[in-house]
Amino acid sequence: MTQAPTIDSAHSDTVPVPASAATQTHADAATYKAMYAASVSDPEGFWREQGRRLDWIKPYSKVKNTNFQIPDVSIKWYEDGTLNVAANCIDRHLATRGDQTAIIWEPDDPATPAQQITYRALHDQVCRMANVFKAQGVGKGDRVVIYLPMIPQAAYAMLACARIGAIHSIVFAGFSPDALANRINDSEAKLVITADEAPRGGRVTPLKSNADAALLHCSDKVKCLVVKHTGGQTTWVEGRDVDVLAEMAAVSGDCVPEEMAAEDPLFILYTSGSTGKPKGVVHSTGGYLVYAAMTHQYTFDYHDGDVFWCTADVGWVTGHSYIVYGPLANGAITVMFEGVPTYPDASRFWQICEKHKVNQFYTAPTAIRALMGQGESFVESCDLSSLRVLGTVGEPINPEAWNWYNTVVGKGRCPIVDTWWQTETGGHMITPLPGATPTKPGSATTPFFGVQPVVLEPQSGAEVTETKAEGVLAIKDSWPGQMRTVWGDHERFMSTYFSNYAGYYFAGDGCRRDEDGYYWITGRVDDVINVSGHRMGTAEVESALVAHPKVAEAAVVGYPHDIKGQGIYCFVTLMASEAPSEELRKELRTWVRTEIGPIASPDLIQWAPGLPKTRSGKIMRRILRKIAENDFGALGDISTLAEPQVVDNLIETRMNRD
Ligand code: WT7
Repeated sequence: MTQAPTIDSAHSDTVPVPASAATQTHADAATYKAMYAASVSDPEGFWREQGRRLDWIKPYSKVKNTNFQIPDVSIKWYEDGTLNVAANCIDRHLATRGDQTAIIWEPDDPATPAQQITYRALHDQVCRMANVFKAQGVGKGDRVVIYLPMIPQAAYAMLACARIGAIHSIVFAGFSPDALANRINDSEAKLVITADEAPRGGRVTPLKSNADAALLHCSDKVKCLVVKHTGGQTTWVEGRDVDVLAEMAAVSGDCVPEEMAAEDPLFILYTSGSTGKPKGVVHSTGGYLVYAAMTHQYTFDYHDGDVFWCTADVGWVTGHSYIVYGPLANGAITVMFEGVPTYPDASRFWQICEKHKVNQFYTAPTAIRALMGQGESFVESCDLSSLRVLGTVGEPINPEAWNWYNTVVGKGRCPIVDTWWQTETGGHMITPLPGATPTKPGSATTPFFGVQPVVLEPQSGAEVTETKAEGVLAIKDSWPGQMRTVWGDHERFMSTYFSNYAGYYFAGDGCRRDEDGYYWITGRVDDVINVSGHRMGTAEVESALVAHPKVAEAAVVGYPHDIKGQGIYCFVTLMASEAPSEELRKELRTWVRTEIGPIASPDLIQWAPGLPKTRSGKIMRRILRKIAENDFGALGDISTLAEPQVVDNLIETRMNRD
């Protein structure tokens, strides 16, 4: 990324903990230091204590049983304990805060009233949905695919699964029918729950017809539950489709929570890797919830009664951990927003903060950059005095955006927490704590409790022991929120994360560590790109492109993009019979959107008569990346190329000149 901070800027502008944040905090600097030291010197003792933040049906006696060594990689936390996640997120709060709001739902259209769902109402709705799932034959260990807009029923469906011990797999509503079908099939789901339509930014996505199209490629045993949300017309398949709201009204509002082992899977979430099809990341019941709850409390300095808003979609891990599981485990008030930051205009986020008196606000750098581009007036017109902590996640934040967030949105009063983590990690890994950590714009700062990051020398894999370091980021030991396996493919789990650097969890990111021990994430070191905070394998876009009959070959790389962080740059070689045209460019763009989803829409497509390959036929992506970055002065050694002249042609016709 162009805007990734450099190590030399690391020490210049440290921002102290704002005075207002140092009071009333769960952890000040001394507490952080002491707790962190305890968490790594005695993980067993530390996490034994932290596990008590949950209600267990059968208390655990074992805490940590983990092994990062191939071929025996195995991660178990609290393995002999039993619990139920829905009971922890709902039932245990009923006695003390049954009438407190659990979820504030803010609809896409600001003219539609918001909904406040109390813990008691949440209990009723989740039990009803759980009973509907049961009536459809779903039980412990079965998979349920959730393909819903950002509506309360998405949270009900997650918690209903958790209540009966079913494993949910959410598919982001922006994904195509193909992507949905792949996930239903890979997880062998018994049921998919969707809605008629998903409104976003005043437009609607026809979710039910997408599901219909997907289900053509799935077993005919898969049931389709439909939330009638907009009332939009949908086709109906008798015997397969179920009107879920009508059924919920007809069943009991009580459902006994299933007793689950700590290591039973809670959910599968598909995410992109550098090769192959997306992997089903499996998260656990006990360890995951302990970690989501603890990070939510400490990273955002959450206190009882605070209104917490994470703007992510529940289709991503951020939504799992910080809209639903972490906040609800803590008895929090969590905001769920159906819409987009710029509808009806660029003040929408700030309008919502004012309207619901949001205390902690958590969003992505891409949103901040987009809103920053609209000017300050949209922020200034709103009363943001309720805000106390501001968070970011998803990609490195450039210091300009950080500073704007800090001064324009936070008025210098609100600590910024730049949280580095991944789908695989379940929760925050490297992040400031609001009352404890002086920040540096662009740095995720220091590790969360129990997390031991290391910087490895990329080639040798040796751990760099000097404080000031640069290399790849890896984690030395397990933490409770860590993914347990790839669904149906433990080999792939081991080879993806534990084979490059023996004995470490390899995160796939590059990083620098400055002289204060602060971490600066510099972006992926593999063929994964990050477009508007959405993670994508370049291989996925390539395989979508080559599936088009007019395409012979394709290579896809990321390039720096002002708003999105990275844009999608495609080099496409056409079949000999085909001629390049603007029309064909459009056609390919639409094709990829249909194959994967709008988030994978190519930004730039360059016609490539040839691709730079080694003599053994391997595409030299390093060169393509440089051309896409408009930085072809430093191509490095191209002498090993089979046909070095193709490079001149690609430079000549490059798309990203500025
Ligand atoms: C990748 C993980 C975890 C929720 C959202 C993304 C990048 C994430 C940061 C950050 C720099 C970041 C990394 C990581 N990333 N947060 N604060 N600073 N980079 O989850 O889709 O699994 O993507 O996002 O490259 O590996 P994800």
